[in-house]
Amino acid sequence: MDIKELKIKSFEELAKIKTSADLENFKNKYLSRKGEISNILRSLKDLSVEERKKIGPEANELRQELEQAFNKKNVEISQNTNYKIQTTRLDITAPGIKISRGHLHPITLTLKKIEEIFSSMGFKILEGFDIETEYYNFDALNIPKNHPARDMWDTFWLRSNQTNPKSEIRNPKLLLRTHTSPMQIRFMEKNNPPFRIVVPGRCFRYEATDASHSHTFYQLEGLVVDRHINIANFKAIIEQFLKKLFGEKIEIRIKPSFFPFVEPGFEVDMKDASGKWLEIMGAGMVHPNVFKFAGYVPDEWQGFAFGIGIDRIAMLKYKINDIRLLYENDLKFLNQF
Ligand code: FA5
Repeated sequence: MDIKELKIKSFEELAKIKTSADLENFKNKYLSRKGEISNILRSLKDLSVEERKKIGPEANELRQELEQAFNKKNVEISQNTNYKIQTTRLDITAPGIKISRGHLHPITLTLKKIEEIFSSMGFKILEGFDIETEYYNFDALNIPKNHPARDMWDTFWLRSNQTNPKSEIRNPKLLLRTHTSPMQIRFMEKNNPPFRIVVPGRCFRYEATDASHSHTFYQLEGLVVDRHINIANFKAIIEQFLKKLFGEKIEIRIKPSFFPFVEPGFEVDMKDASGKWLEIMGAGMVHPNVFKFAGYVPDEWQGFAFGIGIDRIAMLKYKINDIRLLYENDLKFLNQF
């Protein structure tokens, strides 16, 4: 590039600069060791003697002029910045920026309250596994393969469910647990009665969703085993639990129902705000076969078990008319809790 052209271009650029970052870039581009003026001086050796005599002094002159202009600009910019800092004051009376705090999900709130009540009634709280084996989810609960009762639980089977022939575990085919009942067996295998436990947990079912059914939902399993336990004990505990949770004025009904792991079996319904019955739990007296699977002598022990739908309880408690709202993560809904 011609020295004159370079002079015009560089001065024009310098005139437009407003920040010290741009000024630094300018210095690199024109005045540094790899900048344009140094490049010209470096290439002098390839020119004829006459050209060298003409261009050499011109380039040096331009460098001096540009350095002076650069220094002037540098002072201007730094004065300007200092001025800004001096005149910008922190207004400590201005309202702050509100940081929005998170809060617990309605299901978590419900579950905490339920756990608190069962704890106060002497129940121990345990957790099970989201992924279970076919043995604990079905077989050991007195639901053999090909038993029509398996249709009650539409199951998500896991793809990695090839049975390992060397496995010590009985029927290790894997699935997403369809209910929290597998923990009945797991707990009884390792503990002796008498005991009372509750097991909260997430369950999964391969089924179509509607206002009261979700493919993912929460249950709380309960199991009480002792020498003399009867249906009246079950009714008393459940009524007390529901009254502590909802207040004295609840309306419930207990109906006969069928689950292979209890005999007799029940279903408990509760009236919602609009007067409609909503099924909130399955329950019953522990089936002797379940005691056998867990390694107990059935004649010696009696017990009751129940599986409460936590989402349904949350729906009743907070007057939510569609279970799907609990899983859509819509902040307009969640911020109400
Ligand atoms: C069971 O899952 C049994 N394991 C319950 C049980 C335990 C019976 C111990 C006897 C002894 P059921 O499929 O009915 O039963 O489910 C129990 C409760 O979970 C229902 O009353 C309901 O409140 C809730 N529930 C079941 N399926 C869904 C679903 N898809 N979405 C939301 N809640 C559900």
